[in-house]
Amino acid sequence: MVGLKAICILLIFCCHNCYGMFEELQASLLSALAYSDNFGRDGISASDDFFKAGIEDTAIKSEAKATEFEDNGGRSTSSSQSNGRIDITVKMPHVTVPKDDTYFCTKKLIPVGNYSTLYITGYTPHATQSVAHHMLLYACEIPGEENVQTWYCDGMAASSTTSGSLPHGSTCNSAATLVWAWAKDAPAFKLPNGVGFPVGPSTKLKYLVLQVHVKSMVKANAGGMENVWVTAHSTPVPQPKIAGIYVSASSYETIKPNKTRNWDIVCKYKGNIEMHPFAFRTHAHKLGVEVMGYRVRDEKWSLIGHKNPQLPEAFYNVKNKKLVIKRGDWLASRCVMHNFRNRVTKTGGKHTDEMCNFYMMYWTPRTKITQSLPTKECNNGYPWVHWRNYFTTLPKLPKY
Ligand code: CU
Ligand code: CU
Repeated sequence: MVGLKAICILLIFCCHNCYGMFEELQASLLSALAYSDNFGRDGISASDDFFKAGIEDTAIKSEAKATEFEDNGGRSTSSSQSNGRIDITVKMPHVTVPKDDTYFCTKKLIPVGNYSTLYITGYTPHATQSVAHHMLLYACEIPGEENVQTWYCDGMAASSTTSGSLPHGSTCNSAATLVWAWAKDAPAFKLPNGVGFPVGPSTKLKYLVLQVHVKSMVKANAGGMENVWVTAHSTPVPQPKIAGIYVSASSYETIKPNKTRNWDIVCKYKGNIEMHPFAFRTHAHKLGVEVMGYRVRDEKWSLIGHKNPQLPEAFYNVKNKKLVIKRGDWLASRCVMHNFRNRVTKTGGKHTDEMCNFYMMYWTPRTKITQSLPTKECNNGYPWVHWRNYFTTLPKLPKY
């Protein structure tokens, strides 16, 4: 089993950027974690321009309202403080992009001052999808590279595929904790009142690391990578609830030409803390038609979230805010894929591959024991995993 996992991890890495399986998260988490099976995790959306016209606007309008942050212009000092709010900007330096599908990581020591903990309560991105295929923000104990500001972080594949002036490394070398994800021009995002991602010395999470998957070398070099950043908005005021992310990702799936298929992911939740989902994010590349996630308890299905993954890949609020996930519940996700191409498409990290990811952001009460919440992953989304093999009932699928 361990051997199999090791092989999988290797494969994943490889797949990641080049032949890949999961992309962004994958790459990152994967590379970051010892257990990193990030198989098919997100971030990656293929080329975003496909379906977009006329769709995004609505989504952006409805979600962007949630935001009350001002853009600090990505000032290079990268942190500013007002009204007890500490803004931490993680900004790409001016770097040359050697090729399409390059993954960059850049780090920022979290400016905690005299505080032992800061609580991140929201994010404001500054990037466009014509340049950045995805951005992921991690909090970590040890960044993937300690001696340089910026490095290539597309997993093992990087060393063989990206030749450029920077070193190659993982996203994080210790305690990689995903705190935010962005793709397809998603707007700013604010956590609910009273909820924050704890970072700082009390949590061991000393750094923020921004991973940027550059889609277009030409556009990135023309626009300047220094124009890509994210600002994490934080406060030293202790928040009563702390946030975590649970990712479900498919693995090694393939879809034949002109077929529509369900890619299912199923895991039993074995954690001790109760998870209260408050937001979700879907991710697929061009072939994704809809993505959904459920809690299944005693064969009863409760929807966590459902979205067209061609819309901006923001975190969207869940509708059922009362839903709680406890030990013994099942988490079941599905991506409906339609392969309109004349070629087989497989799971992978390139934007021409495909991915199926369902991200759930949840809160749990802050206690002395739960200082921060490591990213949880469900990778049981192999080609042979189907909902019908786990459950005798099936949900009434959301109207789409
Ligand atoms: Cu992807
Ligand atoms: Cu990407």
